[in-house]
Amino acid sequence: MTYTAVPAMAIRNPQLEIAGGRVLSGELSVSGAKNSALVLMAACLLTRDQLRLRNVPPLTDITAMGEMLSSLGCQVVRKGDCLELTGDRISTAAAPYELVNSLRASFFCIGPLLARMGMARVPLPGGCQIGTRPVVEHVKGLKAMGAQVTIEHGIVSAVMPGRGHRLKGGRIHLDCPSVGATETLMMAAVLADGETVIDNAAQEPEVIDLAGLLIAMGGRVRGAGTPTITIAGVDRLHGADYAVIPDRIEAGTFLLAAAITRSAMRISPVIPEHLGAVITKLEEAGCVIRPDGIGVEIVARQINAVDLRTQPFPGFPTDLQAPFMSLLATAKGTSVITENIFENRLQHVAELQRMGAAIRMQGNTAFVEGVPRLSGAPVQGTDLRASAAMVLAGLAAEGLTTVRGLEYLDRGYAHLEDKLNAAGAQIKRVSSY
Ligand code: UD1
Repeated sequence: MTYTAVPAMAIRNPQLEIAGGRVLSGELSVSGAKNSALVLMAACLLTRDQLRLRNVPPLTDITAMGEMLSSLGCQVVRKGDCLELTGDRISTAAAPYELVNSLRASFFCIGPLLARMGMARVPLPGGCQIGTRPVVEHVKGLKAMGAQVTIEHGIVSAVMPGRGHRLKGGRIHLDCPSVGATETLMMAAVLADGETVIDNAAQEPEVIDLAGLLIAMGGRVRGAGTPTITIAGVDRLHGADYAVIPDRIEAGTFLLAAAITRSAMRISPVIPEHLGAVITKLEEAGCVIRPDGIGVEIVARQINAVDLRTQPFPGFPTDLQAPFMSLLATAKGTSVITENIFENRLQHVAELQRMGAAIRMQGNTAFVEGVPRLSGAPVQGTDLRASAAMVLAGLAAEGLTTVRGLEYLDRGYAHLEDKLNAAGAQIKRVSSY
């Protein structure tokens, strides 16, 4: 494998030490979108030609996806922020358990593998810290395209019966607008025989980004970004050179870093429409936000309580619920936050309480009564976005906060402490034994 991995952490059990209470200034730069890059990488399985992706963030999840694709026979080479992926010699349609288990998103390979090889064997990804995360909709859609799918011994085996092994276009109605199912089925349908219509599709920007790549590869995709996506299958796809969109969740986290430290900053690049619900809530809370070409400027003084409910795009994103809760823990008044997407995504509440946040829970709803000052404490990030929430709380807290759980944080934030330190934060990565 010629893949240059992001170096594993050189120190054991690293943690972040954050000296809180500093105002930030200047600019925070946003990397390419993790969730987009992961699925775009899987699209290399759809062609024998080289796929060149630009603006790919240096994250451990990207490394893991590279390893998954390498295990299937793809060549994956990183050159700076570019990834060159070549799937001309796919040697197996069977994905290894360890890799799917460590990176849920690698299950998405089932769609392109089936489209290209007429068969795929991919372990069920299982649940994770935030919930059970089923793949029922993915499987249902593949069946609607003629695949025979069995699940035995924890492995999903999909095969296209008959000669030619080509999937057939079909009509698919998703029971919920699953992002992963929509992406998996788009990649399966793009090489199918005939037209596929996906109803109640996810409308997330990452779905639109995938459609952009598939079109650049010669695919015929219409309607991405709306609830109905129509894909006319083509015989073959070719290579492409494509830039990943900026990471809207990282951008949102940075806006919240500015807000929680009551700072005036610029965040760039940002596509404001990708953050509509988040920007609206920040404005409701009292921030002034102004798009300025490729970025946005934010000025935060007093923060007032706001209510929010997570929803599929264009609603408020579940991935920013925990970071936004950190902000509201410091707001004037009581906010009501409801998590509607994942059943176990409020574990950060207990950690914020350790820092002095006044939060009461009722089912999937948190009542957050703002306090004048959080107080620094040792805390544990329980998943990727919960870890980011802890970092934000640490930036605002009085005294020292130590955040553990960096194995989550490093999956989704590239050089987070370096970026924040350049803007005036005081964060050190240290080892603990
Ligand atoms: C993607 C994102 C993740 C984000 C999530 C929701 C990636 C790599 N990850 O995850 O960061 O938090 O979207 O925006 O892009 N569901 C079912 N049945 C299914 C599939 C999903 O009921 O077959 C439900 C899930 O339990 C959940 C909801 O649909 O309640 C959303 O899940 P989904 O959109 O599939 O999330 P992912 O694609 O896994």
